[in-house]
Amino acid sequence: MSKTIRRAWLPFLNVDVPRDCDTPEKVAAFELKAGCAALKLPVPALKLDPALGEGYAISGGAITGGDTGVLYGAYAWLMAAAAGERAPESLQKPYWPLRMINCWDNADGSIERGYAGRSLWFEGGDFCYDEGRLRQLGRMLASVGLNVLCVNNVNVKAEAELLIEDYLPKLAKLADLFRPFGVRLMTSIDFSRPLAHGVGTADPLDPGVQRWWRERADAIWRAVPDFAGFLVKADSEHRPGPFTYGRTHAEGANMLARAVAPHGGVLVWRAFVYNCMQDWRDAATDRPKAAFDTYAPLDGQFDDNVILQVKYGPYDFQVREPISPTLYAMKRTRLAMELQLAQEYTGQQIDLFAMNPMWREFTEDLPPEALCAVAAVSNLGRDDNFTGHPFAAANLYGFGRYAWDPFASPEAVLRGWARLSYHLPAAQESTLTDMLMNSRAVYEKYTASLGLCWMVRPETHYGPSPSGYEFDVWGTYHRASRDAVGIDRTASGNGYVLQYPEDMRARYDTPEACPDNLKLFFHRLRYDYVMADGRTLIQRLYDDHFEGCAGAEAMGEALKTLDLPEPDKSEAAERMERQIKNAREWRDVVNTFFHRLSGADDARGRKIYE
Ligand code: GCU
Repeated sequence: MSKTIRRAWLPFLNVDVPRDCDTPEKVAAFELKAGCAALKLPVPALKLDPALGEGYAISGGAITGGDTGVLYGAYAWLMAAAAGERAPESLQKPYWPLRMINCWDNADGSIERGYAGRSLWFEGGDFCYDEGRLRQLGRMLASVGLNVLCVNNVNVKAEAELLIEDYLPKLAKLADLFRPFGVRLMTSIDFSRPLAHGVGTADPLDPGVQRWWRERADAIWRAVPDFAGFLVKADSEHRPGPFTYGRTHAEGANMLARAVAPHGGVLVWRAFVYNCMQDWRDAATDRPKAAFDTYAPLDGQFDDNVILQVKYGPYDFQVREPISPTLYAMKRTRLAMELQLAQEYTGQQIDLFAMNPMWREFTEDLPPEALCAVAAVSNLGRDDNFTGHPFAAANLYGFGRYAWDPFASPEAVLRGWARLSYHLPAAQESTLTDMLMNSRAVYEKYTASLGLCWMVRPETHYGPSPSGYEFDVWGTYHRASRDAVGIDRTASGNGYVLQYPEDMRARYDTPEACPDNLKLFFHRLRYDYVMADGRTLIQRLYDDHFEGCAGAEAMGEALKTLDLPEPDKSEAAERMERQIKNAREWRDVVNTFFHRLSGADDARGRKIYE
């Protein structure tokens, strides 16, 4: 059933990993042999040193590493060789021990916010997959050091039964498939599950509930001894949770954590909790404040094997958000930062949006030692190239690189991906790298200028709809009027800025200090507000939308100069056409929206529709 599979950034590994490679060491030996044959190089020696764990060292023509480290070392050696570089000689170790991909795959084969086809392992309410493709995926994940795969949607539907009850042997088989690649499985669970089993309540303090979860955990770990743990979305967007029983999220999380603790499992609890039935008339409730308000008072109350997984921004995976203040407020809690490779708000794997430059800003803002793990919502699917847009693979690759070393230069990471994937002549490689490096800035200009977010079409989240979320229940408003736009989140406004440590407040609290790209996130400003460069706010909004669109058009021209292999060339070109169309739509809709409100003309007399 295996079809021709394109190999993302590993085209030099042109034979599949055979089934009998059932340990990382065997995979490493196979890959070195296959890769060296393709690259016409002598095969380096491989030495196992279990003390190194996930770490490896490359020296004197030999690769030494721990159980998974040998595999990471083998890939590092091969990828350096394929890129014409030298592998680093010093001991290499991942920055974070847990480097997790969260898949929002449903048992029926659909993927929530999936932009690369259907699920790679679910169809028709059951597991269903091509083993060869999954080994290919295992290879891709291991090559960039990703080590946990959560296989089902945080909005758990029918797959609850599938994963934790009747289908454990199937989960075990899937775990066997990924284990040789150093990838452990995790599942999302439904907090209310005991109710479906006659327990009568899902109250975390109820002994019957506690027993039920313990038995479930025991059964899972019997089937999959190296299972990683559970992921939970509770009391969020209509999911069940401890609030129903008047319990805190610490009580809810700890109950589950105690069920998985005897097995060495972790309980990952998402901090994405807010009022999703807000009234737009209510200006006192502000969604970005919600996670901090819920969790900061609970700091110190979570068990050691609980990891609180916090989205990078206080809203929801927007193009530009300040880093979440919750990440600073929980010094006695183990924290993971949640990123989103799936380009829900960032172009849906049609528009180009390479994420490493954005993530690197988080490293600047937050010392990475504040976190114990990092997770990203998957951008994978059953499309031949795994990620829909062939260049969206740069985000999966880039995430592995970021999770391994959050200090790595985004430019080096993206250039590395471009080189391994396409081996273009130097000038073209630079063109592609520049396109990736600038892609977020371009997209930001036509969709989220000055930190104005949520002007997307409701539900699909693709394309412009400036008032789409204005009178809705989701707590996502910009409140644009005839004179002004934005939300005052300063100390004298709704006080959101006070959730930040004191030294950061000053950065945001005045419109003058606040960086332009977050101006309208933190401030409500008049259209005639004069920016540092002398332009008015309204002029800056117009300029950004014209420039963003021109940036997309320029990327289209740049793309034409690249000698990419097929089908990537046609696929990238086809998507670029859609991106340019989308960018023009954004430019015209948003400019007209603000022109109608403000009545202000464009100082440069460009076309703004009436
Ligand atoms: C976003 C997304 C939802 C998802 C949610 C989450 O709001 O639109 O589809 O369920 O994030 O992170 O849980």
